Amino acid sequence: MEDVHQAVREKYGAIAEAVRKSSTNTGCCGPTACGCSDPITSDLYSDSETGDLPVEAVLASLGCGNPTALLALQPGQTVLDLGSGGGIDVLLSAKRVGPTGKAYGLDMTDEMLALARENQRRAGATNVEFLKGTIESIPLPDNSVDVIISNCVINLSSDKDKVLREAFRVLKPNGRFAVSDVIVRGEVPPDVLHSMELWVGCIAGALEETVYATKLRAAGFTDVEVEPWRIYKIDDARAFLSEAGVDVERLAPEVEGKFASAFIRARKPETKSCCGPECCSS
Ligand SMILES: C[S@@+](CC[C@H](N)C(=O)[O-])C[C@H]1O[C@@H](n2cnc3c(N)ncnc32)[C@H](O)[C@@H]1O
Repeated sequence: MEDVHQAVREKYGAIAEAVRKSSTNTGCCGPTACGCSDPITSDLYSDSETGDLPVEAVLASLGCGNPTALLALQPGQTVLDLGSGGGIDVLLSAKRVGPTGKAYGLDMTDEMLALARENQRRAGATNVEFLKGTIESIPLPDNSVDVIISNCVINLSSDKDKVLREAFRVLKPNGRFAVSDVIVRGEVPPDVLHSMELWVGCIAGALEETVYATKLRAAGFTDVEVEPWRIYKIDDARAFLSEAGVDVERLAPEVEGKFASAFIRARKPETKSCCGPECCSS
């Protein structure tokens, strides 16, 4: 896992630095997967959502969905964003939970945390805290969070079971898991999977959709839903794959419809209250 963490830190540390520099001059992009027009990260948020966020937070958006749109956040709730990057989803959540609520971002890359904290300061958000740590070992107590969000991060982890168990642990009973992630649909040959994961940037691999659901249930979640919403086409990845020396025509039939961004929802069940000796012993 340490090797994967190191690779992720290097990749996202460099992107955070590039965003910090580019935002002061050109106002846009530079590094791959940095907003502009790539088919994974583009058009995820409405103008009304991003309108009053710091431009640097919007430029640093590296997600593959909008997890804050997956469920209605209530004033006073505590939200945790796993792999918060430049902080866009944390800042959006903070507005929805209001001054009596709290939005935590968790990230292990120092440069991303620095960027996120700058964005917090620019946004004037006082109900926000960015924590340093890994999503495999969340630095929060049991039963302390109402909603977990995450945007294109769990596919980067080499121990997804551990991430899901940790998410379950820190959620309060009846707490919600509402995540955006890249998934694979059905069987894909390993070399195709590898090429497409390079394109998507899934360092440790995207989960197949039924496997994702099975892992969530194994961690204890109920009401599990995996809903693909943006299905990628070979043309989306053509330029990247050709440049990487991949025979795109050979790959095409294996790729169409097999890779998608998905919304993943689940719930931590209520704990049963003990009503007497019979139900406790059953
Ligand atoms: C693809 S970016 C997504 C950032 C953000 N969620 C967004 O939508 O813009 C992935 C982020 O997750 C962080 N990350 C990846 N793996 C992590 C792990 N195992 N623990 C903590 N942070 C991680 C990276 O440092 C990076 O900031």
